[in-house]
Amino acid sequence: MPYETILVETRGPVGLVTLNRPKALNALSDLLVTELGQALDALEADDSVGAIVVTGSEKAFAAGADIKEMQNFSYMDVYKANFITAKWERLAKCRKPTIAAVAGYALGGGCELAMMADFILAADTAKFGQPEITIGTIPGAGGTQRLTRFVGKSKAMEMCLTGRLMDAAEAERAGLVSRVVPAAELVDEAVKVAEKIAKLSRPVVMMAKDAVNAAYETTMSEGIRVERRIFHSTFATEDQKEGMAAFAEKRQPDWKHR
Ligand code: HXC
Repeated sequence: MPYETILVETRGPVGLVTLNRPKALNALSDLLVTELGQALDALEADDSVGAIVVTGSEKAFAAGADIKEMQNFSYMDVYKANFITAKWERLAKCRKPTIAAVAGYALGGGCELAMMADFILAADTAKFGQPEITIGTIPGAGGTQRLTRFVGKSKAMEMCLTGRLMDAAEAERAGLVSRVVPAAELVDEAVKVAEKIAKLSRPVVMMAKDAVNAAYETTMSEGIRVERRIFHSTFATEDQKEGMAAFAEKRQPDWKHR
């Protein structure tokens, strides 16, 4: 399907979505968010895709929600439409594993979108921030909640109260990103990592993702219970049998479900 604001391709078993509004630094317009949701629906439905990478340009992953589009919204507009609407959360709802590959600015809704992926791989040029306070509003797509869980209260407070940006090195130290790579290698490296995941057992990967996500949704004791039940469930899969047999027989596993 041709899109106006994003590019979508598959590289082997990896779905690659590139945000593509270069003149607006990939500001997240309503159309872009709608198209991203449609692309993610299609990639989730495509059985040949085992993992998804979302990226932007060298200059910007996304510089936030589209300020020009929302500047004249009234309270009634945003309240009645429940802005931001559920479609903004589509990335967070993916069952397949997702990676945000971030170069340049990931600000406001852009930082919030990146945090909706399973993990963030950053270029050394990446800059993260929640600068909404500097334009008279606050994060509205989960930033105050997700950033706090990623980096803790002090850094999240400082960033949300001052709008200070965090560079890639600080983001790695703080645990916001899994790794930092040279900008020129970002997309290839993200696709390589996604491919590695996509070549594993798909149901077991989805179970692992569910278990880690439980750490964000619940208490430690409940999370441990969730983990144990999911761990037990892996023993109902053919791929647990195959994986352990392959280890015992000193060969590579041939996963049944990819
Ligand atoms: C609309 C944007 C935009 C945005 C940049 N542009 N960010 N348009 N919404 N969020 C546009 C600019 O208006 C400009 O258009 C073009 O992109 C290039 O931007 P410049 O500012 O000229 O580039 P530069 O000087 O390099 O500065 C880059 C920047 C700056 C530091 C990233 O653009 C910036 O501060 N942007 C806004 C960041 C922000 O406040 N984000 C939070 C948004 S609120 P023209 O037409 O002039 O060339 C938010 C709330 C989320 O995200 C809540 C839930 C959805």
